[in-house]
Amino acid sequence: MSEDLNALHEDAAARIASASDATALDAVRVEMLGKKGRITALLKTLGGMDPDTRRSFGAQVNETKQALIEQINSRRETLEREAIDARLQGEAIDVTLPGRGLEYGGAHPIRRVIDRISALFGTIGFETVEGPEVEDDYHNFEALNFPPNHPARAMHDTFYVGEGSRVLRTHTSSVQIRMMEQREPPLRIIAPGRVYRCDSDRTHSPMFHQLEGLYVARGVSFADLRADLKAFLSAFFEREVKTRFRPSYFPFTEPSCEVDIHYEDLNGRAGWMEILGCGMVHPNVLRAAGIDPEIYTGYAFGMGMERMAMLRYGVDDLRLFFENDLRFLSQFQ
Ligand code: DAH
Repeated sequence: MSEDLNALHEDAAARIASASDATALDAVRVEMLGKKGRITALLKTLGGMDPDTRRSFGAQVNETKQALIEQINSRRETLEREAIDARLQGEAIDVTLPGRGLEYGGAHPIRRVIDRISALFGTIGFETVEGPEVEDDYHNFEALNFPPNHPARAMHDTFYVGEGSRVLRTHTSSVQIRMMEQREPPLRIIAPGRVYRCDSDRTHSPMFHQLEGLYVARGVSFADLRADLKAFLSAFFEREVKTRFRPSYFPFTEPSCEVDIHYEDLNGRAGWMEILGCGMVHPNVLRAAGIDPEIYTGYAFGMGMERMAMLRYGVDDLRLFFENDLRFLSQFQ
């Protein structure tokens, strides 16, 4: 009898020791100590034994039962501790690894070009100002000497806002009028900002940026315009820039010019590229803004910021500026 008990104990102890998880361990417990378990069955046989055997065998079975309970409990604790250790190890953080680093933001290339031009004109006394992007017909066209049915309006066909005469400004020239209304000459301003036109291809987008310049004082001449623009362009491109002033037409200037610069790109191609419009402020424009053209004269110019950025940074598709692709933008940081 007791040999059987020893064998039973050994068998159970071996299976407890090798139980690899709580489920396996519980299966051994049920098999030994459960209601129909093998130890339980032995205890049930005690009733039919004579008192002496019952006492000694009962004591042995109970000892074995106690031992198995302890072994099961200790194995359970071991398994739980191992599970916790494994989890801690799996989730371990190596605090000695280097950090992932911070991404620094930076100014958009169009912003950089605007800031650069503002700074350059700042050195010759121009103040940077802004005007509204939703304009009225008067400041965008009429005061700039576009008569109501003038064909030049069609070139600027744009986005009308609501009913009446609100329009997304087609150029920054409207800011000229607003500044002349507010201030007295001498007046030196540049006005960068967004403008809107019905246009979309590789070199045009429906929204783009212009920068307007205006200088009104006594005795301002075309010679001032030419000298200031040439000096500016060479400073901006950091080289001696060859320029070409071509006669042109704008309702708000007379005479009017378009300015081309000579360029050579990285592939060795060379040519002239138009970069801005300019001229002497038309007397009708001065008059509309309350300035006497018999006393004051002025020059004005307007240029596209995307075009300047494309030239300065060697970008060949204007749409890249508006796609917000960090692979493109991060090259300017
Ligand atoms: N507003 C013109 C345009 O959008 C550019 C321009 C030309 C501005 C001549 C000027 C100027 O101030 O004098 O095409």
